[in-house]
Amino acid sequence: MASIGKKQHILALVLLLPICISQVIHEQWTKKYGKVYKDAAEKQKRLLIFKDNVEFIESFNAAGNKPYKLSINHLTDQTNEEFVASHNGYKHKGSHSQTPFKYENITVGLEGKWSCQAMKDQGQCGNCWAFSTVATTEGIYQITTSMLMSLSEQELVDCDSVDHGCDGGYMEGGSEANYPYTAVDGTYDANKEASPAAQIKGYETVPANSEDALQKAVANQPVSVTIDVGGSAFQFNSSGVFTGQCGTQLDHGVTAVGYGSTDDGTQYWIVKNSWGTQWGEEGYIRMQRGTDAQEGLCGIAMDASYPTA
Ligand SMILES: *[C@@H]1O[C@H](CO)[C@@H](O)[C@H](O)[C@H]1NC(C)=O
Ligand SMILES: *[C@@H]1O[C@H](CO)[C@@H](O)[C@H](O)[C@H]1NC(C)=O
Repeated sequence: MASIGKKQHILALVLLLPICISQVIHEQWTKKYGKVYKDAAEKQKRLLIFKDNVEFIESFNAAGNKPYKLSINHLTDQTNEEFVASHNGYKHKGSHSQTPFKYENITVGLEGKWSCQAMKDQGQCGNCWAFSTVATTEGIYQITTSMLMSLSEQELVDCDSVDHGCDGGYMEGGSEANYPYTAVDGTYDANKEASPAAQIKGYETVPANSEDALQKAVANQPVSVTIDVGGSAFQFNSSGVFTGQCGTQLDHGVTAVGYGSTDDGTQYWIVKNSWGTQWGEEGYIRMQRGTDAQEGLCGIAMDASYPTA
């Protein structure tokens, strides 16, 4: 009798141990990221999601068969569905019609990266399109005026009536110190608008499904690209060169700011995201370049454009 009791005890312990460990890790994690849950039920629900995600990250890293590693970050208590719903915001309406492509005949170097403004965080607001528009506009302004300036995403979110504010929008629809970014739809405040800081004439599209064309464009200025971030790897912190999994359901606008290759010859794009510096490599991700797919990894070459001054 006693030995059965002991066995059951050990069994219970073995079954409960992972939960207890997760609980401790989750507790530390909520402190680190300042998470507060509204009640015990919510906390329990988040703990279980957190535990699943940690197990996914650990088994991914243990498999060790990819040139990138995942780690826990501030999004680890969300399901992938919640993450996708809250962190992208690009409404893809079919590819843009082809405009002239002024970089058609240029020769590109082996690597390069545009210096960018301080990393921004779009918060829980699906307006990645505004961040990408601003990043590419800052890029062209910097190149044409030799000045580095930070434009205001908030102004685009508030003022642009064609696009959709926090519900997502398109990247061709639409000065920062006096207009700080907050992740809610606001109303346009004309008093805060500085003199027209950077004016762009229009935009050109990069010929679709050609990473060569994209490289020519990125060699000349930061380029708005759209990618599929539905895969769970984007939800976590990825370091190294990301090689998938992802599809081509374009749902997130980001900025290609450079390209290069690792010592072992893996080619990559340097992509600037808008989820803060605590995501990825200081807010950037290196995504594999030159895959077999003409669309590029996660569809990066499908729908790219840049502003013209
Ligand atoms: C994300 O990964 C990078 C690179 O490994 C690391 O420096 C950074 O601290 C990580 N961020 C978090 C939140 O774990
Ligand atoms: C590229 O070169 C071709 C052939 O010389 C020429 O027809 C075309 O106009 C050039 N494109 C640009 C954008 O300069």
